Amino acid sequence: MTESTTIRWEQDDTGVVTLVLDDPNQSANTMNQAFRDSLAAITDRLEAEQDSIRGIIFTSAKKTFFAGGDLRDLIRVTPETAQELFDGGLAIKRNLRRIETLGKPVVAAINGAALGGGFELALACHHRVALDTSGTKIGCPEVTLGLLPGGGGVVRTVRLLGIADALLKVLLQGTQYNARRAQENGLVHEVAATPEELLTKARAFVDANPESQQPWDKPGYKIPGGTPANPKFAANLPAFPATLRKQTNGAPYPAPRNILAAAVEGAQVDFETAQVIEARYFVELAAGQTSKNMIQAFFFDLQAVNSGANRPKGIEPRQVRKVAVLGAGMMGAGIAYSCARAGIDVVLKDVSLESAVKGKGYSEKLCAKAVAKGRTSQEKADALLARITPTAEAADLAGCDAVIEAVFEDTTLKHKVFQEIEAVVAPDALLCSNTSTLPITALAEGVERQTDFIGLHFFSPVDKMPLVEIIKGERTGDEALARAFDLVRQINKTPIVVNDSRGFFTSRVIGHFINEGVAMVGEGIEPASVEQAAAQAGYPAKVLSLMDELTLTLPRKIRNETKRAVEEAGGTWSAHPAEAVIDRMVDEFGRTGRSGAAGFYDYAEDGKRAGLWPGLREHFTRPGSEIPFRDMQERMLFSEALDTVRLLEEGVLTSVADANIGSVFGIGFPGWTGGVLQYINGYEGGLSGFVARARELAERYGDRFTPPALLVEKAEKGERFSDSAGS
Ligand code: NAI
Repeated sequence: MTESTTIRWEQDDTGVVTLVLDDPNQSANTMNQAFRDSLAAITDRLEAEQDSIRGIIFTSAKKTFFAGGDLRDLIRVTPETAQELFDGGLAIKRNLRRIETLGKPVVAAINGAALGGGFELALACHHRVALDTSGTKIGCPEVTLGLLPGGGGVVRTVRLLGIADALLKVLLQGTQYNARRAQENGLVHEVAATPEELLTKARAFVDANPESQQPWDKPGYKIPGGTPANPKFAANLPAFPATLRKQTNGAPYPAPRNILAAAVEGAQVDFETAQVIEARYFVELAAGQTSKNMIQAFFFDLQAVNSGANRPKGIEPRQVRKVAVLGAGMMGAGIAYSCARAGIDVVLKDVSLESAVKGKGYSEKLCAKAVAKGRTSQEKADALLARITPTAEAADLAGCDAVIEAVFEDTTLKHKVFQEIEAVVAPDALLCSNTSTLPITALAEGVERQTDFIGLHFFSPVDKMPLVEIIKGERTGDEALARAFDLVRQINKTPIVVNDSRGFFTSRVIGHFINEGVAMVGEGIEPASVEQAAAQAGYPAKVLSLMDELTLTLPRKIRNETKRAVEEAGGTWSAHPAEAVIDRMVDEFGRTGRSGAAGFYDYAEDGKRAGLWPGLREHFTRPGSEIPFRDMQERMLFSEALDTVRLLEEGVLTSVADANIGSVFGIGFPGWTGGVLQYINGYEGGLSGFVARARELAERYGDRFTPPALLVEKAEKGERFSDSAGS
């Protein structure tokens, strides 16, 4: 019988039943069919044998307490199978409700991650004790996968914390709390230091509360903070849609909207009805496209990327002990911090000791902030800082087993700094450059051991950005690629792997987004509308403000270098309409971007943006030049997606998962799409629909929207872009 394996019944002679979650077929417990069957059987047995039962403790035999909904099942839900999901979900909820109202104390002994469904199971218990380990994470991250907690999580968090706290602390952001912070925020009652203490505390609750009940089942219970029926609460209701708008920026994320609706509507009805309302909103999300996009990218693709689907096979993993960071500017300082945080010794070298010390100062600032906010201890911060040695002397790099170069973006200079240090570092040291645009193969020509040379492209700010783009040059060896991959994982970042090309994947593709925005200004479209289109498409940065940040002279420099390279190779350069706009901005108006205190925006003396430059309307805007808002958004999205397909055709990209993850984590492609190629998969009408729309855009706005052959071919065959599990 399933109950003996998926949920194991262990009863002691004092009448305490421990229900051990232990799915025999998976490494983590999930809400799959076996669990549903097992829970139903267990519930029947608890009711039948209640006279001999004194209390119930849920715990797990796995490393995680309970992982939540089975995403492999969820990603396959269609509108046709939605009813099945609705019925199955409701059955689990009704069984948990039967256990919670049995009249016996029910305790969750949370011995690892309890996220999503796991936390919902724990919420159905009267008392929650969490083990204080690094693996214990508690919360409802469903929103980050385009879903809502459909196992009673909305209904119970609202009744536990009140609507406002439930929404802001748990449901809308998907925050994952450690055991202590979960307790501070009222999500668990107690914290235990050891597994033994966890069970002792669980038992103590059973002993002390023989007739325990949930707060919401006690007479006179009211939802904390009131409900919409209460005039004082109702006066605050309009603040929620405003919070929502702030969170989604008007981009098409349906989950926050459904969460808000389920919470507010569910607060006004009885528990059972609230569960049904929650189920309806959950199933609507699960059957929709956005959750599929997000599950594909943020679960399956991310897992494939991080687990090394792209790491060469058969090479022993290696850890870096001491890294040389060359250049202590913005990037070098951030790279030094990230390495030291992961326990690696860092020698940070710049032209003068003063500059190197200044670079270390960045880590000092980050550490002080982390200590002040309680995110780390003074002791840990001191240890991190002690690992960073600033220097101006090449000799100090002796023994480094990896080098990460982050000096100015100049091939001759990069060659020079590698020559200075190649003979000093370990004889087999991995040699990495953080160039954002220069071809790796040409940079490698500056070193003796070209097989050990590789691109390691970080993103700014390094301490926050999760992605690193690894670039394999023509002569880079598999050993170097494997070691670079291991180094990126060692510092807890996500590595994508691409082949060498000008601008690689990320820099080249983000250039299309920016060019499209700038080109629209040149066509006379109202600049504020262009910014709004980017925001509502879901881009984290508005397009013209991003151009200003990067400085307008940078794309000119890259363009001139690329143009020269294309022409030297016998090709012809086809100019992008954005080029003329940038030339005018720089040459005619002297506006080079934020660093020059004037760009598409004006800037106040303190460097803050002070509105779009009114001159844009005067010099570029033309009445009657409006185009549909949808075209504006799709010109940006399509320009990036189409070039990504070209990069696959060219062999620069070799993995769909890398493209999806790299686009969202590195260059701000909107998360609701699930990444740049999943956007094509999920487009209305699939690949054929996307091809038809690209042709329409090409006709209206130029050849750059003509779909590449690979895309047309895949559309004709009825295929989609996919190389990791999932849909
Ligand atoms: P930066 O100008 O802030 O820093 C460069 C540092 O290199 C300066 O501290 C300079 O003193 C130092 N330097 C110059 N010559 C040196 C030498 N011979 N030996 C040691 N240090 C030397 O520049 P940033 O922004 O940190 O960029 C560095 C590299 O990272 C560039 O290749 C850039 O393309 C790349 N990159 C930049 C990104 C960004 O967002 N800024 C993103 C990704 C890559």
